[in-house]
Amino acid sequence: MKKVGIEAISLYTPRYYLDLKTLAAARGTDAEKYYNGLGQERMAVAPPDEDIVTMSANAVKVALEGIDYREIDTLMLATESGIDQSKAAAIYVHSLVGLPSTCKAFELKQACCSSTAGILSALALVQMNPRKKVVLVASDIARYGLGTPGEPTAGAGAVALVISADPKLVAFDPENGSYTADVMDFWRPNYMDQAMVDGKYSIRVYLKALSESWNEYVKASGREFNDHYRYCYHMPFTRMAEKGHLHLAKYSAPEGISKDMLKDQIYSAQRYNRLTGNLYTGSLYEALTSLLESRDKLDDRRVGMFSYGSGCMGIFFSGVVQKGYRNYLKTDAHRQMLEARIDLPYGDYEDMYKAVLPQDGSDAQTMHYETGLYRLAGISGHKRIYETVGSIADRHNEKTSVDQQQIPREKASQQGRR
Ligand code: CAA
Repeated sequence: MKKVGIEAISLYTPRYYLDLKTLAAARGTDAEKYYNGLGQERMAVAPPDEDIVTMSANAVKVALEGIDYREIDTLMLATESGIDQSKAAAIYVHSLVGLPSTCKAFELKQACCSSTAGILSALALVQMNPRKKVVLVASDIARYGLGTPGEPTAGAGAVALVISADPKLVAFDPENGSYTADVMDFWRPNYMDQAMVDGKYSIRVYLKALSESWNEYVKASGREFNDHYRYCYHMPFTRMAEKGHLHLAKYSAPEGISKDMLKDQIYSAQRYNRLTGNLYTGSLYEALTSLLESRDKLDDRRVGMFSYGSGCMGIFFSGVVQKGYRNYLKTDAHRQMLEARIDLPYGDYEDMYKAVLPQDGSDAQTMHYETGLYRLAGISGHKRIYETVGSIADRHNEKTSVDQQQIPREKASQQGRR
């Protein structure tokens, strides 16, 4: 069987974040609960002129640097923050990035796990025709009610992966194990723009899906716990990865694991997620990006990966990091993007949160905020209007501050998002 896997990977997250110390002060909560109890420091906040399309287009554009667009057979967009019941968000991304008309484009859904379902389909597609490449982009705005327990686990961002028979970063193993069950741990009805969640129950279901899919993976592959050098988990909050890893180790590592081993095996994958919050479909692949871009020496090392989507579906799978992978990473661009972000005061966060597009079909223009290369300009005649606004490098080099932004609170609720 031909080697297939990830040729390129790129992360995009909005220019704004809320420090969870700021949120803790506003909610009268001990910040340690967020920083240590949940393992989150910052959560990315999408301004009203960013959505899953603009975030995806930014991630895809960078992932495709140096790749011939004519080789791209398919663009898949995984999301649970859909913007239309019929038209795929992937079509807008296809157009913004300038992919050829021969490239297919569609959207995928099964909560946070649809990205992995897309990758498995992409692997089959590339196996069938190794000259073809697939771009899978996972993009979401994780959104819970203000003041709810889920709020500190919000976040936003997109991860784009180029899947090909030239896997410069990670070659996937052919085996995987999966688990599907009809449960109501987390969902979002069409009439809501915030998730409904049974938080404690969702953690129990996550852990069950992990052990069940791990068992199937072990049966299929014959591999054991110690056959994986590092582990990456779907991370709604980074402590969830610790809970998951300890759960897995409890019955699959006979000698157990020490605190140091726990840290070694998952810490490097947690760093970026701590700084952006939950990316839903992109969360596992943000963890993989964080691991690959860490100081760990990963050449020829196997990584175990667990993808979880509420509702629910879990998939355990693995891949081997390729020799020389460091030469193909976008580490500097990612660090620069994370460092250049704007720390929001609480009031501005709440204004952005409350700024939703009109729900009655009327036209609206969005205010200009700091974005990447693309922005949502508004809605006209029930159609979403996107525009290209400048080079990402230029924008990341700009020095901006919230004071310079002057986000007008009283007007924000009339401006759009989603
Ligand atoms: N200092 C340090 N730690 C503290 C603390 C303090 N002052 N106060 C509390 N803590 C600790 C608690 O002990 C707890 O740690 P343990 O889990 O190790 O016991 C942790 O902080 C969280 O505290 P609570 O359990 O009291 O938190 P909560 O009830 O307010 O909410 C949550 C936690 C249920 C995860 C909530 O944030 C939530 O509903 N999040 C959204 C749902 C979610 O992320 N579910 C995960 C699985 S589902 C999934 O993975 C799909 C997806 O992407 C959504």
